[in-house]
Amino acid sequence: MNKIWIGTNWKMTKTIAEGVAFTKELRSISEAIPSSIQLFIIPSHTALVPIKELTTETDMYLGAQNMHWEDSGAYTGEISPRMLAEIGIDLIELGHSERRQYFNETDVAINKKVHAALNYSIKPLICIGENLDQKEQLISKETLAAQLKVCLQGLSKEMAKEILIAYEPVWAIGDQGVPADAAYVADIHHFLRSTLVELFEEVGLTIPLLYGGSVNQENFLEYSKLENVNGLFIGRAAWDIESFQKILYTLEAKLGV
Ligand code: 13P
Repeated sequence: MNKIWIGTNWKMTKTIAEGVAFTKELRSISEAIPSSIQLFIIPSHTALVPIKELTTETDMYLGAQNMHWEDSGAYTGEISPRMLAEIGIDLIELGHSERRQYFNETDVAINKKVHAALNYSIKPLICIGENLDQKEQLISKETLAAQLKVCLQGLSKEMAKEILIAYEPVWAIGDQGVPADAAYVADIHHFLRSTLVELFEEVGLTIPLLYGGSVNQENFLEYSKLENVNGLFIGRAAWDIESFQKILYTLEAKLGV
C-alpha cells in the first residue's frame, strides 16, 4: 500500500462560489504533487455539480458528506446514492461524529449506507471514533471494534477492497478538540489494522486507514509517518488553500511520496 490519502471535509462551511475558487487553486497545486498522494475533497451537496466539472480531468477524488441508503422515496431532505452517482462522485463520507452526535446516525444505519454506496461503485469513507467518556473509561478499543464490526457487517472481501476507514477520536475533532498524541494514534491504528485483518484476512492489510481530528501544521507530519496511517482527513487546517498547500508540499518533500 503506497498511496497516501490526503483530503478535507468542508463540513457546512464553503458556499458554491467559495468551493469553486478553492478547487481551482487546488487543481493547479495538484498538478505539482506526485500521484502517490491521492487527494480528495468533500464539499457540501450544493457545490458537488460545479466542482465535479472542475475535478473531472484530474486525479482528485470528489466526495459527499452524507446520503440515505434508499435509491428513492418519501425521505424529505435526504439525498440518495442514485442521485450522487448521477453527479459522478467517487467517495461518500459516512458516520462522521457530527452526524452521529447531532443527527443520531447509528452504526446500523451506516452499514446500510455502506452497502448502498458499494452498489453504485461509490467508495465509502467510514468514520469511527470513541468519545471522551469512552476513552476515560478505557473502552476505546472495544468501542472502535464494535463500530467497525457493525458498520462493515455483511461485506465480502471483494467489497472490503473498496472501502476506506477514517479514525477520528471525537475528543480530538473541531475547535474544542485536543490533538491526540502520536503514540496513541499509532496504538489505535495498529489495533484497527488487526481488527480489519480479523474481518477480511489479507484484504484487511490493504484497506486505507486515515487519521483525522485537529490535524494541523504542527502535527500532520508526525501522524503521516506512523506505520498504519495511510492518510489524513483534515478539517480546519485544510480549509484555507495556503495552509492546505503547505501541508501537501511538506509531505511531498519530507516523505518523498
Ligand atoms: P478538524 O481537523 O477541524 O478537527 O476536523 C476533522 C474532521 O472532522 C474531518 O472529518
